[in-house]
Amino acid sequence: MARPKIALIGAGQIGGTLAHLAAIKELGDIILFDIAEGTPQGKALDIAQSGPSEGFDAVMKGANSYADIAGADVCIVTAGVPRKPGMSRDDLLGINLKVMKAVGEGIKQHAPNAFVICITNPLDAMVWALREFSGLPHEKVVGMAGVLDSARFRHFLSLEFDVSMRDVTAFVLGGHGDTMVPLTRYSTVAGIPLPDLITMGWTTQEKLDAIVQRTRDGGAEIVGLLKTGSAYYAPATSAIEMAESYLKDQKRLLPCAAWVDGAFGLKGMYVGVPTVIGAKGIERIVDIKLNPTEQVMFDKSVEAVKGLVEACKGIDPTLA
Ligand code: APR
Repeated sequence: MARPKIALIGAGQIGGTLAHLAAIKELGDIILFDIAEGTPQGKALDIAQSGPSEGFDAVMKGANSYADIAGADVCIVTAGVPRKPGMSRDDLLGINLKVMKAVGEGIKQHAPNAFVICITNPLDAMVWALREFSGLPHEKVVGMAGVLDSARFRHFLSLEFDVSMRDVTAFVLGGHGDTMVPLTRYSTVAGIPLPDLITMGWTTQEKLDAIVQRTRDGGAEIVGLLKTGSAYYAPATSAIEMAESYLKDQKRLLPCAAWVDGAFGLKGMYVGVPTVIGAKGIERIVDIKLNPTEQVMFDKSVEAVKGLVEACKGIDPTLA
């Protein structure tokens, strides 16, 4: 059977890391696409030359033409600009919306059967716009945010409890921004919910609140340290986890920015919710019950995402 084809639209920091991870995991043959001439070709050659040591078999190619993504099974989109210190993800809206238009049209023409994972920020609005421009089915277009935000939460929790990150599960829902909703009630250490761990004296409410806030600011903390761009190792790893679940029909339960129409009382919008990813794309939205406090936070996040989508419609009238 032919290897799956994975098209990485954007060959910058995240795109290059995605290519390396996809190759090491032997998920398929890889096309690195970018508008910058030489960048995708150079990265493709460099990564291909790690193959002999790593021992993977994957065709690795750089491209500046959308024709090269033809027939891709998975497209992971990072094209656009990342933030600089002091910028919010929302500040990227105008410039990255134009990029989504070009990318959406390229995918529509050359890879209409792909499972598309958007990483470009501001995530919830960009994945919505990408779906609109590409015209692909909603269940085949999804945004990567919740896996990353949950991974950040899990990392901070494992430090607090001095236990393996593998035994910490966590859920972060809502938009990928300051209003994201880390759900402490649904987060556990080996099945023990965080509120119980407070009762057991493992942590305090104050410490947990600080970890929740650090999770919300997780991206900005890295931007502040790097100064020249935003995070890329963990974002790439998170998107690869989603791509793998699709390609191998793993049916992983992962929080993603998915099209929600009915669940959570929402009428047709992209926002971070628990999903099941399998061979059909987003196969299920897991409609968990929120308590009143969580609902207030989720509603606030939903309103923030709606505001960004309205801003997109204001910039590009074809989206209205
Ligand atoms: N088509 C294709 N590629 C493009 C386009 C376009 N219209 N416009 C820009 N690019 C490319 C750039 O040439 C660059 O190589 O997108 C790449 C982006 O890479 P980086 O600047 O290194 O950014 P990265 O850190 O990979 O982040 C990409 O993901 O997390 C988000 O906020 C982040 O929106 C940003 C995106």
